[in-house]
Amino acid sequence: MEKIVILTGAGISAESGLSTFRDEGGLWAQHRIEEVATPEGFARNPALVQGFYNARRTQAAGVEPNAAHKALARLQRGWPGEVVIVTQNVDSLHEAGGARNVIHMHGTLAGALCSACGHRWIAPPEMAVGEPCPSCNRPTARPDVVWFGEMPYHMDEIYDHLASASLFAAIGTSGQVYPAAAFVHEAQAAGAQTVEINLEPTLGATGFDTYILGKASETVPHWVEQLLARPS
Ligand code: APR
Repeated sequence: MEKIVILTGAGISAESGLSTFRDEGGLWAQHRIEEVATPEGFARNPALVQGFYNARRTQAAGVEPNAAHKALARLQRGWPGEVVIVTQNVDSLHEAGGARNVIHMHGTLAGALCSACGHRWIAPPEMAVGEPCPSCNRPTARPDVVWFGEMPYHMDEIYDHLASASLFAAIGTSGQVYPAAAFVHEAQAAGAQTVEINLEPTLGATGFDTYILGKASETVPHWVEQLLARPS
């Protein structure tokens, strides 16, 4: 049965109240990427970076999944084939909306990582500068989030899914950051149908077979209902 692979970006969490990056007033209008989302920025000013992620962790803990997150969970439960959700988001709203086995290619706010020994654990709500690693006890704790210049996680698994996808959907992502921005081409090379679901056509919109415009909380439930109504 058809496998559906879905890539989501910040736009799917926008209506839950989390800022996107490149929209008007987005995170990259308020902060400089090189200061808060690079290993060099962390080395230069760990307090600024820990503060940036502490604020996002607190904000993410206070919001709810919206109808789009819940609709994708419904699709996973109701679709006869596999439905794989790959997200660039570091919030946990897909899981809160009932989705399973979500692949977080940019890591998660909920995770902490020791840059010395590689140990991972659940991050405290507020991570302090020099927080000791519970395993090696060195003061080398960092958010388990993929920064610019670092390799995204689970790429082999993601490419395997794209190579066997029958349908690929990109939801709420501007398609400006690689490697995620090229997933549509991987899926097309595998013969998949491709659809972009966004508030507005992105720069890459013409690369999709179809695109659906509107707010994710309205377009995604409708898209899922249409899929589930298909005779299997
Ligand atoms: N419904 C649907 N789409 C929306 C909505 C909405 N309510 N609100 C915004 N969008 C769309 C915007 O039109 C835009 O195309 O969501 C997209 C958000 O784009 P970005 O802010 O660039 O976020 P994203 O694509 O997830 O960024 C990718 O860049 O900075 C890095 O690591 C960061 O994971 C992030 C990556």
